[in-house]
Amino acid sequence: MNLQAATLDSEDVPTNLSANPEFQTVVASAVSRRGFLRTGTGLSAAMFLGLGGGLVGCATSGSQGGQPLIGFQAIPISTDDSIKIAPGYSAKVLAPWGTPLLDGAPKFKGDGSEDAATQAQQVGDNHDGIHFFALDGKNDEGLLVMNHEYCTVDEKTGAYVWLFGRKGGDVAKQWGRDHVHKSMNAHGVSVIHLKRNAKGAWDIVPGSVYNRRITAHSAMQMSGPAAGDALLKTRGDASGTRAQGTFNNCGNGFTPWGTYLTCEENFNNYFGTSAGEDRRNAAQKRYGLSPKGSLFQWEKHEARFDYVKEPNESHRFGWIVEIDPFNPGSIPQKRTALGRFKHENAAFALTKDGRPVIYMGDDQANDYIYKFVSNHKYVPGGDTSRLLDDGQLFVARFDAGAATGDFAGTGAWLLLDKQANPQLRADAQFANQAAVLVHARLAGDVVGATKMDRPEWVTVHPRTGEVYVTLTNNSGRKTVDDANPREKNVYGQIVRWREAGGDAAATTFEWDIFVLAGNPTVHTDRKDLRSGSANITADNTFNSPDGLAFDRDGRLWIQTDGKYSNKGDYAGQGNNQMLCADPVTKEIRRFLVGPKECEVTGITFTPDHKTMFINIQHPGEEGDSHWPDGGNSIPRSATVVITKDDGGVIGS
Ligand code: FEO
Ligand code: CA
Ligand code: CA
Ligand code: CA
Repeated sequence: MNLQAATLDSEDVPTNLSANPEFQTVVASAVSRRGFLRTGTGLSAAMFLGLGGGLVGCATSGSQGGQPLIGFQAIPISTDDSIKIAPGYSAKVLAPWGTPLLDGAPKFKGDGSEDAATQAQQVGDNHDGIHFFALDGKNDEGLLVMNHEYCTVDEKTGAYVWLFGRKGGDVAKQWGRDHVHKSMNAHGVSVIHLKRNAKGAWDIVPGSVYNRRITAHSAMQMSGPAAGDALLKTRGDASGTRAQGTFNNCGNGFTPWGTYLTCEENFNNYFGTSAGEDRRNAAQKRYGLSPKGSLFQWEKHEARFDYVKEPNESHRFGWIVEIDPFNPGSIPQKRTALGRFKHENAAFALTKDGRPVIYMGDDQANDYIYKFVSNHKYVPGGDTSRLLDDGQLFVARFDAGAATGDFAGTGAWLLLDKQANPQLRADAQFANQAAVLVHARLAGDVVGATKMDRPEWVTVHPRTGEVYVTLTNNSGRKTVDDANPREKNVYGQIVRWREAGGDAAATTFEWDIFVLAGNPTVHTDRKDLRSGSANITADNTFNSPDGLAFDRDGRLWIQTDGKYSNKGDYAGQGNNQMLCADPVTKEIRRFLVGPKECEVTGITFTPDHKTMFINIQHPGEEGDSHWPDGGNSIPRSATVVITKDDGGVIGS
């Protein structure tokens, strides 16, 4: 979501009141340690950050068989209400919000007048994370699984902007039960069985048993160490194991055993109360629950979303949920071992001894980066049902200490274990490990994790195992030094780290800044950190990196969810976009620009990498778009299918 900083409890407003160090402070001190911020050196921090050097003794290659890694021609910005893409590529719209999916589902009427029952049969709203699961390894048939993060709401008036038609019609004035249920059904996940036809276009396979909607109503299983704990028991579920629904499904992950990981992000926006006074406890404040009514107003017709009436219901959200798309009857599993926070995405890796690792960001200003390390090896074809239930959860601390190689600093993974970590063992706010997991943010505060500039997507390089994360922005970041121009970080950055010994199980790492986004057109002095690192130019300038994924060849795809005013700090940056970076040379090229008022998010490929699927989310979130249908239509989030006209690999 791209909530306004003025809105209470948005991800731009920190709820982290701990004294833990802020990442920007660490960066500044790491840079000064090398002397580049010293007055009069003539070398700017931006130069240092951009010219950090290639990977030493690297297993990576900036090229593919002598060919440059990135083969397409960069494109300029755009402020048009359409998709722009690099020459030689095509982009086609697929499965916009309201597309009939389940058997017998009606066609989208075009004015948002569908009721809740119809919405439950159609593709949901605000497409986000996405993954293509090939059927039998095929490049022309598979299950496209995607998140429907939320529905666009005008934060000033509380009215839904498009779900019930243009500017929500009169719905806000006569808020009914069916409106709440339609909103609940527009959230969640779609599983879409796709097949490419003879003309090369992708069709939804009608009547397929795989086609499925998972919504805020669907049955869910709580699994892992917190399942059944008192903190998860409600009046509706005395077992503490049977949750209902998933929502605010933001980014995603996937496992080599063919499951989809959907990540519950801003669940706090769905919990409110009509109690009339602020009845929140410290944990509810830390997780950003509203003191009054919620943004989405579900509590008006569903009592479980009123946290005064049902105090533990919110503990059943904010998890990573594992879905088996190949088993349409399977119950999604909320994996509590991975911790509860505002999950952005889930990046999979394996330790040297073959255990699954999941890297995760908590998207709020001044919140943390985590990783889960399973206690069990992944054996292809073996039992995978408990791999994400039993393991260790860590939170990251980024230190300014000297790295041994070309990276800027060192870091440590801090274990969030009630028994093994003396700080948590001694802390009465955690009765047991379940409490540590349910209140993972509070545990991160206690152990001294580093406050980051809104961690969004994490991705792992397919060969080196280096891990990259987008830190989207942190415009409210305060520092004591007015001379530090990034104290209000409006552009964001991408940080990368390498685990000690190249092992995802390591408890220490070295980190570096891959790119400091910025705007050299507006901030022309390259010593000014707002101009960005050296790999930012007037031609590739962008703000607020968010979606992030390596492809199999090691191209780094960067998607933005930032300000699109094209004015002031953002002049010359245009609409939100997708770029591609070479991790060795650090060159960044703009590949695609989205329509008006959208964000670009979600990345996946067919196995041959000749088809790429991305999502365009919330076009026209402020009212000004008719994408993709044109004319006077209401805008709709949609998937975009990208192919190269010569049939080649995307990006080559
Ligand atoms: Fe749903 Fe942090 O983006
Ligand atoms: Ca979003
Ligand atoms: Ca995002
Ligand atoms: Ca974002």
